[in-house]
Amino acid sequence: MTPSSTKSPRDSALVRAARRQSVPHTPVWFMRQAGRSLPEYRKVREGVAMLDSCRRPELVAEITLQPVRRHGVDAAILFSDIVVPLAAVGVELDIVPGVGPVIAQPFRTHADLDRLPELTPEHVPYITEAVGMVLAELGATPLIGFAGAPFTLASYLVEGGPSKNHEHTKAMMHGDPELWQELCARLAQIAGAFLRVQAQAGASVVQLFDSWVGVLSRKDYETYVQPHSRAALSAVDDLDVPKIHFGTGTGELLAAMGAAGADVVGVDFRTSLTDARARLGDGYAVQGNLDPALLFAPWPALERAVRSIVTEGAQAPGHIFNLGHGVLPDTDPEVLTRVVDLVHEASAG
Ligand code: CP3
Repeated sequence: MTPSSTKSPRDSALVRAARRQSVPHTPVWFMRQAGRSLPEYRKVREGVAMLDSCRRPELVAEITLQPVRRHGVDAAILFSDIVVPLAAVGVELDIVPGVGPVIAQPFRTHADLDRLPELTPEHVPYITEAVGMVLAELGATPLIGFAGAPFTLASYLVEGGPSKNHEHTKAMMHGDPELWQELCARLAQIAGAFLRVQAQAGASVVQLFDSWVGVLSRKDYETYVQPHSRAALSAVDDLDVPKIHFGTGTGELLAAMGAAGADVVGVDFRTSLTDARARLGDGYAVQGNLDPALLFAPWPALERAVRSIVTEGAQAPGHIFNLGHGVLPDTDPEVLTRVVDLVHEASAG
């Protein structure tokens, strides 16, 4: 390969795979690769609260780059969190260690909508600044910008924090559909604007995380969620960035999630890439889907699983290797590096 063909993130394996173009090797990155399992991450985060760390561009840039330097992954993902844009527009919340996002006053009534103004780029100057710093070091490696999808954001706002059953969320969806639709319309604006800020600053790809949407039936997804996810993704339609859309437990929803406007559909470990492709057809690339728990298995078992996913992915119109969900905190980072090397070697040529 000539050097000129590797110079721009637009020609990178990741962007090409997302566009269903030919690739020199299967691109690989890991959800939640920045942070968690890395000792160098824990060191720089020492004494800095999670939300504060997301508002310090130098720190964001450093943490974003750590997994690229260490593992040689094919993309960086901006270090941030799905609730950062909510905090930016003034929602009172905290990220509690060991728990996750906690909302001071859960959203339950029409009056609560007043606490969700539109997001403008002026709300998040530190994001634009951090993206600029990251790009200066990344070279031809693409940066992925991301946002939480309206359903997953609504779930945190309505439940007040992480939830197993999402009962208040579903109660609002069915009991006051008008309030639900208005809440999600506002969250779609916020998510879309947050993606747009990152893409305009130079992110080459965006990912919309609808992590918990798999708790819905397809009918409820199509009625109450899909239009809002579509609105969020369409906010970057004119910016020429491929769009990845991911959730867990979404075997029944994959086609509907693709139809929300994705180029790439993220597949969790419960659905094989072969089945995902059968449900999606040829119009989408797929991303996934190694079970993150398998990173704890002995190498021969892990190697088999990785090779099998590379082989299955090669049948799809485009494949980005990833986990089926985020890196678990106790994962040995050396195993992640080894998986990157294996994916590259197994898919080369
Ligand atoms: O994991 C996913 O499903 C991805 C989508 C998502 C993110 N944050 C993106 C993210 C979700 C659902 C969240 C909410 C959230 N935020 C949780 C989960 C709580 C629950 O409901 O179970 C938690 C624990 C947080 C707080 C948080 N976010 C911490 C402590 C950190 C840093 C270290 C770590 O644990 O990863 C984050 C970073 C974060 N959240 C990133 C992303 C994409 C950063 C980029 C990366 O690590 O790759």
